[in-house]
Amino acid sequence: MIEFEHVTKAFHGKAAVSDVSLNFAEGAFSVLVGTSGSGKSTTLKMINRMVDFDSGMIRFAGEPVTRHPVTTLRRRMGYAIQSIGLFPHWTVAENIATVPRLLNWSGKKIHSRVIELLELLNLDPAVFYQRYPHQLSGGQQQRVGVARALAADPEVLLMDEPFGALDPVTRSSLQQEILRVQRAQGRTIILVTHDIDEALALADHLVLMDNGKVVQQGAPDTLLRQPASDFVRGFFGDSDRGIRLLGLYRVKNLVRQGEAPSDGQPVTVALSLREALSAFIQQARSVLPVVNDAGEVVGNLHLQDVIHQGVTP
Ligand SMILES: Nc1ncnc2c1ncn2[C@@H]1O[C@H](COP(=O)(O)OP(=O)(O)OP(=O)(O)O)[C@@H](O)[C@H]1O
Ligand SMILES: [Mg+2]
Repeated sequence: MIEFEHVTKAFHGKAAVSDVSLNFAEGAFSVLVGTSGSGKSTTLKMINRMVDFDSGMIRFAGEPVTRHPVTTLRRRMGYAIQSIGLFPHWTVAENIATVPRLLNWSGKKIHSRVIELLELLNLDPAVFYQRYPHQLSGGQQQRVGVARALAADPEVLLMDEPFGALDPVTRSSLQQEILRVQRAQGRTIILVTHDIDEALALADHLVLMDNGKVVQQGAPDTLLRQPASDFVRGFFGDSDRGIRLLGLYRVKNLVRQGEAPSDGQPVTVALSLREALSAFIQQARSVLPVVNDAGEVVGNLHLQDVIHQGVTP
């Protein structure tokens, strides 16, 4: 859906992005990670032409981005960022309605969409609808920013550290929400984050950048199991690699069915193996019963099987 071919961009003679080739597939959740200053935000901004590239080619839906008028790009691509933000003299509702208004939606449709998004992002419409950005906390502003990006249901969502100022609980629920939207509606999402665990939790396609270059890209599982270099290995924390791998898998794949249910507090099929490992430790057990979403026991989970899954070469 979005393709980079040998894209280079320099600021004041210094390369910020050099010779980057990437393919962000339609319907995929792509995540850019990397060290500070490695070119992630610049890469993102070249997609919607907030920054123009020097050489190479970027295509959106088969056409060079330079052939799409900037206004069209902005309507077709939602953009949410941590730092810049909301229009200060507009209410929360007006901010969220930015693109729907450009698209001439009816007042009634805009109103109900704004209410829907506020509720989705856990912002009580009765409290927040008429507020101004300076009357919000940093985390609340961020959520309004995400709501604004989602408002017109864009084909592509570009997100630059959108959850940075959020507490872990809100952050995790917003991650789940974005994942749900992406899976349900097949949205193409490109997200930049510093948070390795967030990247691993969200990405179908993970792109690791360093010093303006793509060092490795692929499925999270591949980057953890087959790091292309010591840099990649170190980036994901060599000592945490096993645990992080376990975070990529769910209990349901390792259930031993047909065994007599074990004693202990059950784990659910949807839990990650990383969380399940914690349950084994907390309960000092090596076998735990597994329940499905309806709470019915479906088998057992063995600590030994979990450990085996996290083995890296
Ligand atoms: N408008 C600009 N003018 C000059 N230099 C810039 C500009 N934007 C980015 N740079 C430089 O380009 C490089 C890449 O910056 P970029 O913002 O893409 O990095 P990043 O990976 O997003 O970093 P961070 O994780 O800190 O946000 C940096 O060295 C930065 O200083
Ligand atoms: Mg950045």
